[in-house]
Amino acid sequence: MRHLRTLLELSTTDVEEILKIAKEIKGKFKAGERTVALPGRVLTQVFEKPSLRTRTSFEAAIIQLGGSSIFMSCKDAGLEGREALGDVSRVLSSYSDAVAMRTFSQQLIEDFASFSSCPVINALSDDRHPCQALTDVLTIDETFGRLNGRRLVYVGDGNNVAASLAIASAMLNISMAVSAPEGYRLNAGLIAELQRKYPGCDITHIDDPRVAVKDADVVYTDVWTSMGQETEAKQREQLFAPFQVNAALLAAAPDSCRFMHDLPAHRGKEVTDEVMDGPKSIAFQQAENRMHLAKGLLVWLLDRRR
Ligand code: CP
Ligand code: NVA
Repeated sequence: MRHLRTLLELSTTDVEEILKIAKEIKGKFKAGERTVALPGRVLTQVFEKPSLRTRTSFEAAIIQLGGSSIFMSCKDAGLEGREALGDVSRVLSSYSDAVAMRTFSQQLIEDFASFSSCPVINALSDDRHPCQALTDVLTIDETFGRLNGRRLVYVGDGNNVAASLAIASAMLNISMAVSAPEGYRLNAGLIAELQRKYPGCDITHIDDPRVAVKDADVVYTDVWTSMGQETEAKQREQLFAPFQVNAALLAAAPDSCRFMHDLPAHRGKEVTDEVMDGPKSIAFQQAENRMHLAKGLLVWLLDRRR
């Protein structure tokens, strides 16, 4: 039985298989054919934070694959002290074929998985967002036809999304640059771990976003204030203002570059309307791909015929 707590527990071959299944299922879906690979299966989603894309894309994915979904908050599940975490995990996993969790603490997902009798999927924690990063590499592959050697420039907070993108980039030989204010860069420990595990790994920091985007295939940003950091919002807005992705910044990138954002976007903050709605934006293709990736991941985890 496999889990997806962090991308680091997958091999490059695992990731390539998930992407391949997602692409196949998406291709059939676009041709009007549904892939009913998981009839009768149950995905339970337990969330501590809000979600539009993750929750509904997983729900649509399991339903279209022939299964069904159950949703509850962490509080309703009893994870805020009603009973022991291990007891909740044993019970919920006995009713479910997979459990997707969105939490503040990464450790909560890891602890839940240690008691679970079914696969546990990280649907975002403060530290990681693996399903988003898998979707993003699927979208880059689809857009450029190949991942190897691509240049991804992440402008903004070195947060959960950036960390998972860094892992995916190291695994798939994508060169990544991060442009962020001091104190908000990618975790140095993570970069060191990736450099040890993937010797060719190319992840650098470039202070000036206009220099960073110079050779970008993709310019990527995320919110400056993540869920749970709301009290820091004002201070962050000031610090991150020079890192806004706007038309002037994109003009410093190659004409062929594309703009990505995992969404929700805070228009007028980390990205302008002009960029979000402009011809280089593939943010909504990326959002759509959350569902196709969710299908690929669920089939990879649960279809015992594969
Ligand atoms: N990108 C993403 O995870 O969106 P939600 O927070 O709406 O799920
Ligand atoms: N970094 C953001 C991602 C939202 C999908 C957050 O954690 O709120």
